[in-house]
Amino acid sequence: MYNSILKKEAKVAVIGLGYVGLPIALAFAKKVSVIGFDINEQRVNMMKQGIDPSQELEPEAFIDCDIKFTTSIEELREARFFIVAVPTPIDDHNLPDLKPLIGASKSVGKALKKGDFVVYESTVYPGCTEEDCIPVLEEVSGLKFNTDFKVGYSPERINPGDKEHTITKILKVVSGCDNDSAQTIANVYKIIVEPGVHIASSIKVAEAAKIIENTQRDVNIALMNELSMIFSKMGINTYEVLQAAGTKWNFLKFYPGLVGGHCIGVDPYYLTYKAESLGYHSKIINSGRYINDSMGAYIAAQTVKKLSAAKKNLNDCVVLVMGATFKEDVSDIRNSKVADVIKELKTFGVNVEVVDPHAESDELMHEYGFGLIEKPNNNYDAVVVAVSHAPYKLLNENYFKSLMKPDAVLVDIKGIYRGQINNLTYWSL
Ligand SMILES: NC(=O)c1ccc[n+]([C@@H]2O[C@H](COP(=O)([O-])OP(=O)(O)OC[C@H]3O[C@@H](n4cnc5c(N)ncnc54)[C@H](O)[C@@H]3O)[C@@H](O)[C@H]2O)c1
Repeated sequence: MYNSILKKEAKVAVIGLGYVGLPIALAFAKKVSVIGFDINEQRVNMMKQGIDPSQELEPEAFIDCDIKFTTSIEELREARFFIVAVPTPIDDHNLPDLKPLIGASKSVGKALKKGDFVVYESTVYPGCTEEDCIPVLEEVSGLKFNTDFKVGYSPERINPGDKEHTITKILKVVSGCDNDSAQTIANVYKIIVEPGVHIASSIKVAEAAKIIENTQRDVNIALMNELSMIFSKMGINTYEVLQAAGTKWNFLKFYPGLVGGHCIGVDPYYLTYKAESLGYHSKIINSGRYINDSMGAYIAAQTVKKLSAAKKNLNDCVVLVMGATFKEDVSDIRNSKVADVIKELKTFGVNVEVVDPHAESDELMHEYGFGLIEKPNNNYDAVVVAVSHAPYKLLNENYFKSLMKPDAVLVDIKGIYRGQINNLTYWSL
């Protein structure tokens, strides 16, 4: 398989061309022949014109690529090595929603031939590939797993907005259903991944490795958030405490904040779901999730307390929220916890206006029921800097004063302006 791919006799297909799938497809397409498959025709048409619908890649990324973008199963059949990178969200009850993964497995099943390989990249709970995906591949293709086709799992580690740790620059964990297929999958990924690969001992180990990378971050950020709530009561600034504690060689550098997006705030639920099905009720992971999911309401309550302390009538207050995306310097608003801050502020009767240099107003309106104003006014009772977008880091006290009424409150969730604000009521996590 590896040699056939190198000689362009066998094609690689990537199923699901989003934040993860498109960069993988294009990285392979610089070296071998690729089919880029997605069910979203509008997105596929954009990619055909060299546009990344996720706005992460520049048009140059599409240059010199041997890739055919398609929504056709017929064209997907031309491939022999299938990489699945579709979303793995949670539903309204925080339970895994495997619909895209099962849908993609059905598409691959229709295209599968004897001798083919299927590698899943979507983040899942340990056991999902073997228990949920392989049976679909077998049923739809009529082929037998292991004898007729091989399966592997290789989690993705990219970080949206991070231009340094890109797909070809991060060591990749790979796994296969047996030693030979793990080795083949490792060789295929080595075509694009410069630092090389780590071969995990099984598919389940590779699945678990990915899910704990994000669970570890979630739990550690939850600890920082809890510390922040405690230190707030003590009147000390958490970032100052972390700066001091961080001088010890083995103190881990995590910071408080809103945990949104489709990875860190979602993946731990996949693990707790699976643990629950095996009779183990997770304590630490669920506590971390609870704390992180409550931070939006906590920040809104702190803002309101400061407004009340300044003897302001909440119904007359106008608060500007700066930043609506789930993290800095991206346009992605999925599972943005800034929406929780805004929703909670509104429950107190406060009027809220929102700006963001990257987010789309229509998308926010559709997802959360609020849009963006074009530019800030100058009558705010409070400004909440919710996301540390690069241009926001350049602002100073005079800028905020120019937006605010006297006795106004600056809420600096990420502590960007710590130590720089002297004449405004200031609060950060
Ligand atoms: N975004 C990240 O930075 C990141 C990092 C590591 C891991 N992951 C994981 O990678 C997976 C993909 O995430 P993403 O952020 O790229 O998702 P995404 O939402 O950006 O893109 C998914 C793409 O898959 C397509 N799609 C949905 N269902 C499909 C189907 N049945 N068949 C074919 N295409 C389908 C969509 O149209 C979309 O183009 C998820 O499991 C995620 O947890 C994401």
